[in-house]
Amino acid sequence: MGWLYESLNSSIGKKFIMAVTGISLILFLIFHLAGNLTLFAGPEAFNGYVEKLEGIKPIIRIIEVPLALVFIFHIFNGVRLWWENRKARPEKYAVNGQSKNTNVFSRTMIYSGSIVFIFLVLHLATFWVAFNFTGEPHEKAYAYYGVVADWFQHLWYVAVYVVAVILLGFHLNHGFQSAFQTFGWNHKKYFPIIEKIGTIYAIVMSVGFASMPIYFYLNGGS
Ligand code: HEM
Repeated sequence: MGWLYESLNSSIGKKFIMAVTGISLILFLIFHLAGNLTLFAGPEAFNGYVEKLEGIKPIIRIIEVPLALVFIFHIFNGVRLWWENRKARPEKYAVNGQSKNTNVFSRTMIYSGSIVFIFLVLHLATFWVAFNFTGEPHEKAYAYYGVVADWFQHLWYVAVYVVAVILLGFHLNHGFQSAFQTFGWNHKKYFPIIEKIGTIYAIVMSVGFASMPIYFYLNGGS
């Protein structure tokens, strides 16, 4: 097993872990957004969706373990890669300007990622805890939908969501194409298509996730 540890610990190994965990998170976000969009169809639709998930709770609990591990590996490895790159060339950027292969999205991955992480802690401490532990403060008809609608009445909470999902969009825009590059899919002709798909994906995620807090805030929770 020593060889496995060594190869995953090499710099290409770490890039590979970032790409595999990143793609898993990209897929998770598609399902998460699709499920949450039922909020726009009203309390019945959203509560029905959550109750369906409740019905398969043991499966959800099993999925949550690898999902948490994927998040942890992605964050831990990302910080390590950033730290090692920083140590390897501390003044180069300041002296020679930015390298040709980097842009504002790639250079700020550590910052956009860190803010998304802080957002995630807040998000889980409010929604996930309410949905799983503290129960429903509302009557049945309003239930889960009410928890979301109530939180999105607070301007500070809505503002944190909107800023975080815009930065999430920046993070996904670079992360998407970077993962494909790590897998070696950087063919001159097709790579621009991958870049475009990544940008469209990032915009859809940002706009989709930002639309819910904005909608509830503007509509007073209905
Ligand atoms: C407006 C946007 C969002 C809404 C309304 C929303 C809603 C929710 C709700 C209601 C839950 C609890 C579900 C349950 O336990 O049954 C949840 C869990 C979760 N959310 Fe979000 N979410 C949003 C954005 C995001 C974003 C942008 C991310 C990632 C960066 C994210 C990551 C997660 C994770 C990891 C969980 C835990 C999943 C699980 O353990 O089942 N969410 N979200």
